[in-house]
Amino acid sequence: MSTLPEPTGIPTAEPGETTLGDHVLSQLRGLGAAVGLSETDTALYGQVILDSLTGAARRPLSLPPASPSFLSDDHTPVEFSLACTSDGAPALRVLVEPGWAHGNMGDSARAGLKAIRAMAARWSFSTDQLDALEDLFFPAAAKGPLALWYALDLRAGKVPGVKVYVNPSAAGPEHAARTVEEALSRLGYGKAFAELPPAAGYPFLALDLGAWKSPRTKVYVKHRRMSADDACTLGRASGAAVADIRYFFHAAAGSLLPSGQGVYGPPRLLRRPALTCHSFTEGENDPSGFTLHIPVRDYVRDDEEALARATGLLTRFGMDPTVLRRSLRALTQRQLADGAGLIAYLALVYERNRQPRITTYLSSEAYFVRPPQEQYPQVDLVPSQRLRAS
Ligand code: TRP
Repeated sequence: MSTLPEPTGIPTAEPGETTLGDHVLSQLRGLGAAVGLSETDTALYGQVILDSLTGAARRPLSLPPASPSFLSDDHTPVEFSLACTSDGAPALRVLVEPGWAHGNMGDSARAGLKAIRAMAARWSFSTDQLDALEDLFFPAAAKGPLALWYALDLRAGKVPGVKVYVNPSAAGPEHAARTVEEALSRLGYGKAFAELPPAAGYPFLALDLGAWKSPRTKVYVKHRRMSADDACTLGRASGAAVADIRYFFHAAAGSLLPSGQGVYGPPRLLRRPALTCHSFTEGENDPSGFTLHIPVRDYVRDDEEALARATGLLTRFGMDPTVLRRSLRALTQRQLADGAGLIAYLALVYERNRQPRITTYLSSEAYFVRPPQEQYPQVDLVPSQRLRAS
């Protein structure tokens, strides 16, 4: 690949002006403290994140986003997440678009690969799997909406887990299925594509690189008008408890009856679609994991309601909800009822031989807070048909 031009048009902030980097670092410090990371770990991870954004981290917040990133609704190139379990402390992760400042997907991809290679050198991990897929995901004149994102699992001890996200539609959405199939096959999962459910799209393929006990290849699948039954059918093969998937769907979508004794049904997610993620490990063509992602922000009035749903779910699954509340305080001083989108997604995660997890995706809101939505619910609620909760 050719050398990367420095992104143009990134003015350096005047002294005293808040930059994107300042904003993200201060959120990271607060979140690090909320989950119990040491200040040295947090500082190191913060530096890695800012380095990966290169000059864009010095962009003053008074300017609009450098590109209309699809990573978050307000185009901040950073999103946090909190992965909770019932048997340990929550894990803090951060998702980043290193090529955010570049105007086209080719340059964005090159910036992304450069960032990943720098991490691979720093933490001595191999990028062979990613290298083997370059022609599929980074073609000439690649299409969006993303080229490469990465996520860091911010562990104590200065070595994170690294995940890389690429776009199966880079050669056009019409080639996405073929691209996913070919990528799985090159990675040693020649029969895995047949195990994937019918898809309305494949937004991401992800690779675990670096320090993972059991590195996964993950395929994200988009589902239009998902119902609770659909979610249960999709998750059945994973060994997940179907009643838990059903409960999670209704609690996240807002279709639990207030009494908690049943649900409105049959609701469908008519606004932003739900995603499922199917993971593969150790060359086995049967999925080793299943995740249901509900874009809760489109199904609530505001973040107070999103937090209430998340709190209810965490409690029901035996997880500590207090870290989430503290984390939201670390992100913003605004009232939760004054916007919708701070909690972007709620996800229920099953991975073989592990306790289920609930992940909350938390927006940075560097640029914009979406106002509360009076026009909700957008699930198709049919209160007259009362169903049982499981
Ligand atoms: N912002 C995009 C979306 O809402 C992509 C994205 C960011 C996403 N974080 C995510 C998708 C977490 C699923 C889960 O779809």
